[in-house]
Amino acid sequence: MSERNEMTSASSIASLAGRRVWITGHKGMLGSAMVRAMAGEDAHLLLTSRAELDLTDKVAVLAWMEKSRPELIFHIGAKVGGIHANSTLPADFLHENLLIQSNVIDGAYRTGAEKLVFVASNCTYPTDAQQPIAEDALLTGPLDSNIRAYAVSKIAGIEMCRAYRRQHGSNFIAIIPPNLYGPGDNYHPQHSHVVAGILRRAHEAKVAGAKELVVWGDGTPRRELLHVDDLASAMKHVMLAPTTHDLYNIGCGHDLSISEIASIIEDVVGYEGRIVYDKTKPNGTMRKLLDISRILELGWKAEIEEKSGLRSAYDDFLARYQSPEMRER
Ligand SMILES: NC(=O)c1ccc[n+]([C@@H]2O[C@H](COP(=O)([O-])OP(=O)(O)OC[C@H]3O[C@@H](n4cnc5c(N)ncnc54)[C@H](OP(=O)(O)O)[C@@H]3O)[C@@H](O)[C@H]2O)c1
Repeated sequence: MSERNEMTSASSIASLAGRRVWITGHKGMLGSAMVRAMAGEDAHLLLTSRAELDLTDKVAVLAWMEKSRPELIFHIGAKVGGIHANSTLPADFLHENLLIQSNVIDGAYRTGAEKLVFVASNCTYPTDAQQPIAEDALLTGPLDSNIRAYAVSKIAGIEMCRAYRRQHGSNFIAIIPPNLYGPGDNYHPQHSHVVAGILRRAHEAKVAGAKELVVWGDGTPRRELLHVDDLASAMKHVMLAPTTHDLYNIGCGHDLSISEIASIIEDVVGYEGRIVYDKTKPNGTMRKLLDISRILELGWKAEIEEKSGLRSAYDDFLARYQSPEMRER
């Protein structure tokens, strides 16, 4: 990397005030948290729904970026889903995410964006990575076969940020969060992630007076959870900070077993039956705890603990349950 490029990558951004900030995927769970996090920043927010701008459409994306000239980009929009959606629709996950990332990241370079933060995922790390998983574990081993297509698309996004930094001196970085939860989550019976899935089924078991709540696997795998509002605050932090690395893990620094998560949800929902584990269903990866030394060094740490975070998720679920706004994709 040239001297000029080193300087470009490491410089900080004084303020978001008055800056043209594009949040892709702003109607999703993390995107709407990002919009909330920008309240009071006095930034000029650029928001494009899928109906206004399909991110898979290269011509439309470049034309929009040439016209709107986003200076700072939170690239959040992607095809997202749980293990069932990933194992039944791998072609869609790989194809759409490669198109979206390619269009947004290359467009950011072509239209002179000052900085871009790309959201990857912890499934990009090898299943046999040493715990806690440091950023340099990327591309060192095999991936979970159930979500490999999605993981490969996210690895491609990380490598695009690296390649544009190296070749063009672009200040593009990637972040890796753990399992996210919070307001705006997707509660689709088959397509949701672990927390949303258990939360919905616990609620329905409570309403139905069911004696048992079935949770997939044996309850022993461990998951690190991060509230979306914490991740949005971290993304703002890395956007402003002089980021010298091209990749940052952003987590809370600890994990919980699925049975611990289920019992917090049981408590938050007020379900009084018994949790039983369906051991015929797969456990998935046993552990994926992120090493968060880099982001701690940069001066950010998570603040929302799981119980209060899950309460805010459940309040949002109750407000939207069976309403037209309930996102079940
Ligand atoms: N959820 C997690 O646990 C988790 C964990 C690690 C990383 N991540 C990453 O975090 C980011 C946000 O995830 P999320 O959970 O907030 O997902 P989400 O709720 O599904 O939001 C994704 C957003 O992207 C938009 N989008 C998808 N395809 C598009 C297209 N072709 N054109 C325009 N917009 C498009 C969606 O639009 P519609 O509203 O029209 O569908 C939606 O607003 C993703 O990059 C994901 O990979 C998520």
